[in-house]
Amino acid sequence: MTERADDYGQYWDLYVQSIFPQLRATHDPAAERLHWPGDEWGTPEIWDKIYAMVFAPELDPPPARAIEIGPGSGKYTAMVLERCPDVQVLALDVSAAYLSVLEARLAPEIAAGRLFTRRLLPEWDYFDRLVRERGWEGSVDLVFSIDAMVHVDLQYLVAYWLAAARALRPGGKMIMSVADATSPHGFDKLMADVPNYFSTQGKITSKFEWLCPPMVSHVLERIGFDVRFFPKLAGRDCWFVATRRPADPIPASPAAPAR
Ligand SMILES: C[S@@+](CC[C@H](N)C(=O)[O-])C[C@H]1O[C@@H](n2cnc3c(N)ncnc32)[C@H](O)[C@@H]1O
Repeated sequence: MTERADDYGQYWDLYVQSIFPQLRATHDPAAERLHWPGDEWGTPEIWDKIYAMVFAPELDPPPARAIEIGPGSGKYTAMVLERCPDVQVLALDVSAAYLSVLEARLAPEIAAGRLFTRRLLPEWDYFDRLVRERGWEGSVDLVFSIDAMVHVDLQYLVAYWLAAARALRPGGKMIMSVADATSPHGFDKLMADVPNYFSTQGKITSKFEWLCPPMVSHVLERIGFDVRFFPKLAGRDCWFVATRRPADPIPASPAAPAR
């Protein structure tokens, strides 16, 4: 790609405004099914299977309040809204362009007061502030993020995990996929991406930020979650549900920066 993004959210705007239209314009017959940015990642059958394996068993009773991080064009947003009839979803994304697509795709749900969208600004407590603004702290049933946090380094991701711990009610769940360098497919991608990314050090890209199950468990358990993985889905990514422990107090905001 020749365009440059000066801000992280703008990288994803470029994907929507420039890279995806180029993909769709190719003469490859596979491009014919591409309607929304993100349709190129998987198939409707795969997304349904993910919902059946990861969401359906965890969402009983169905959530009333949910927060999605990185909805993109909303393939999972739409599924949660459709299958959980009383849910309200707050969808947070760094990309204004992705949010515009989501808002167009799910305009009826927005009009019905079931979906709210907000752009995440690069401020560490912005997620917290959006939750407080809605009066949702400590009352959210579900936080979810699929195929998005694979791009987020642990130093940034942990800000979302802390915010999720404060937003969720005791027993509330966070469902997420992150990139796993220790899985066979994850390891293969780590190796394959060496020539793609080495020269981009320090620049904004969509490279993967690698984690592994022990790191996920270690950090989430320290901030008040019990973690379970979905080994049947393990491929390039590790999938997990983290349940907010009822007995733990809500984690405080981080202290002043320590260096
Ligand atoms: C690969 S797309 C996946 C979108 C959607 N979840 C799906 O499965 O189709 C990644 C999404 O995550 C968003 N994103 C990337 N980094 C983010 C961050 N640090 N915080 C919130 N959203 C982020 C992007 O703007 C984009 O909407």
